[in-house]
Amino acid sequence: MMLRLLKLFTKGKFLWVVVMLAVGLALYFLPPSLILLPRNVTLTWMGEPTTTQTITWQTGRYSSRSQVEYGEVTDKLQSAMRAGTAQQVATDRGIITVHSVELTDLKPGTSYQYRVGDGLFWSSYHTLTTAPVQGQAFHFLLFGDSQGNSYKLWQRTLQIAYERNRDAAFMMNIGDLVDIGLNYDQWDDWFQAGHGVIDTMAIMPVMGNHETYTTEWKIAEPLLCTGFFRLPKNGPAALQGKVYSFDYGDAHFSILDSQLQEEAEWIPEMLTLQQEWLERDLAGANKRWKLVFIHRPLYHNRPSAGDEDLRDALAPLFERYDVDVVFSGHDHIYARSYPIVRGKWTDETGVGPVYITTGRSGKKTFARAQQKNWNAMFYNPLEQPNYLVIEVSDHNLQIKAFKLNGEVIDTWSKTAKRN
Ligand SMILES: [Fe+2]
Repeated sequence: MMLRLLKLFTKGKFLWVVVMLAVGLALYFLPPSLILLPRNVTLTWMGEPTTTQTITWQTGRYSSRSQVEYGEVTDKLQSAMRAGTAQQVATDRGIITVHSVELTDLKPGTSYQYRVGDGLFWSSYHTLTTAPVQGQAFHFLLFGDSQGNSYKLWQRTLQIAYERNRDAAFMMNIGDLVDIGLNYDQWDDWFQAGHGVIDTMAIMPVMGNHETYTTEWKIAEPLLCTGFFRLPKNGPAALQGKVYSFDYGDAHFSILDSQLQEEAEWIPEMLTLQQEWLERDLAGANKRWKLVFIHRPLYHNRPSAGDEDLRDALAPLFERYDVDVVFSGHDHIYARSYPIVRGKWTDETGVGPVYITTGRSGKKTFARAQQKNWNAMFYNPLEQPNYLVIEVSDHNLQIKAFKLNGEVIDTWSKTAKRN
């Protein structure tokens, strides 16, 4: 061995190996604030999904230019360049830069190849696909809480769900994306777990209570969550990045913020703000299906009390404006309620909102969860994570819950009332 090392050294190769090892180690342990290559490339929408796409990525603090080079997949020789904005975000690992570019005037139902960078350091190429014009059926993926002290299982759930649904239109996460919302390393693990998925399929997040937690388990403004995602700015001004809505195909999506206790210090009127906004939002929605997403469930499965303040404030609006399904997380179980109107559940379909708690996509389980009287279906995914596939067409809404191994937990569907 020593003789071989000596021979390598004498040929100059040993020095080369040492240099390469040192460079590799330096790159691996480079603090996030010094990274130059684009990292954590993510797709969302701020605007219309048929003609726009927002692309976000992260670098260290010393990269201020934000550029996207893109072109239709069928026409690779024709590419265009679009510039965007760079915003510095203070994290517990130093200052990083969040870059954002919104592509506009895209063709509906079209795939584009793109890469992001500063003009010198570029990402690899990725593909995005715009939404088709209204009228076409689509399906999207919905994941329950992904939080944990490791994101390996979240990666497995996400990647397996994606492999089985490569033609899904986009994905959503119901909140508690990470366990410690003010911890950069957990976010970095979360984004890295999505590599190859969230750079080709938009992710529309819902904010959870864990997004407001610090490494000392204190409450703070969720500045990493709101700093990392670029979302529609049509919610209340005080709740930008947390409350918003968008349309895709025949469905209207309304996303709410249930963190009343955590955020009261900064936004004491947040429930009233959301009530007023939701009323206008739902009244103005002209899609066949109305879907609401809120992290804490209005109809919970914890042994302790639920969030009656949310229920009292929001359920009447869901009923008045014919919301079809309200999706939640937080309890780490899968549960589907009977349709509920004015606090009473019924076997009839089509008479009121159905409340679905989506389960868990990460490693955290909740063994003490209990089935409740309002549950038409209850399943506690203690042994493996789960995910949902939601199919939307102009006449039908279908929700399927799958275990990670592919077994079906629940299937529920609703046929549209004809006008
Ligand atoms: Fe939660």
